[in-house]
Amino acid sequence: MPGQALLLPTAAAALSVACGWLFWSRGFEARSGSVVVFSSEELGRFSGVEGSAGLYLAVLGEVFDVRSGHKHYGPGGAYSFFAGRDASRAFATGDFSPSGLTDDLSGLSPSEVMAIQEWLDFYKKNYTPVGKVSGHFYDASGSPTEALRHAEALVVEGRRLRAEQEEQKRRFPPCNAEWSAGGGGGSRVWCSKHSGGVPRGWSGVPRKLQEAGSVGSRCVCVKEEDAAEAPGLQEYEGCPPLAQSCTVKG
Ligand code: HEM
Repeated sequence: MPGQALLLPTAAAALSVACGWLFWSRGFEARSGSVVVFSSEELGRFSGVEGSAGLYLAVLGEVFDVRSGHKHYGPGGAYSFFAGRDASRAFATGDFSPSGLTDDLSGLSPSEVMAIQEWLDFYKKNYTPVGKVSGHFYDASGSPTEALRHAEALVVEGRRLRAEQEEQKRRFPPCNAEWSAGGGGGSRVWCSKHSGGVPRGWSGVPRKLQEAGSVGSRCVCVKEEDAAEAPGLQEYEGCPPLAQSCTVKG
């Protein structure tokens, strides 16, 4: 992953000259080994506004040339606030206010940090990497900081949790549900071979699943043979244990 983002200064210079951008001005960025390292002020000069040095943005400290996405990031673009900075946090929160546009990831959950990593993968795939920005995720010599290590650990945890959730969804797919318009405000839940968007060779029977940390319960489908003893799952009141459809009182 890091190797992908490194760019030899000579290659970067050739690229920028070829593209006609004022990139290689003396003193614009520190160079350490083969990594181009920008300070956040230097990166700020690549905001895409008229007279600026170019159009760059950073995610998790990795800087990309996003000129080809000018319609998004250039002046007047819907995501112009990402230009010339590392606003990693906003990629997860969608908070595009000045205080939300920050590289501080404090308090974000593993799945939120994983979402930022997915944006980083998106930029690696679609745009040209040009270096690192020093400060939060990389130091002045372009080496990863403790903050980056911490973010990477959260990504690993986020992936583990997602795999666990996917496994849980395969085992206990969500039920179909419809609200009944009649008096009483009840609803009907039932299982089918595609309920919950999980195609399978069995329908199963509805059970109430109470998840740790959540207030209410939700309906999941359980294979008939597992229904008798499925820990943590409850039958719906007044519904026969092997019925495929249950009416739930509101
Ligand atoms: C956390 C929230 C969001 C973030 C961080 C985000 C970020 C982005 C970014 C960075 C791009 C440009 C991608 C590129 O370089 O090609 C983009 C494109 C786009 N976004 Fe979002 N977005 C968010 C939410 C939304 C929402 C809620 C909608 C719709 C209601 C939306 C609609 C679009 C559309 C339609 C495009 C493509 C525009 C085009 O190709 O012309 N985005 N988004």
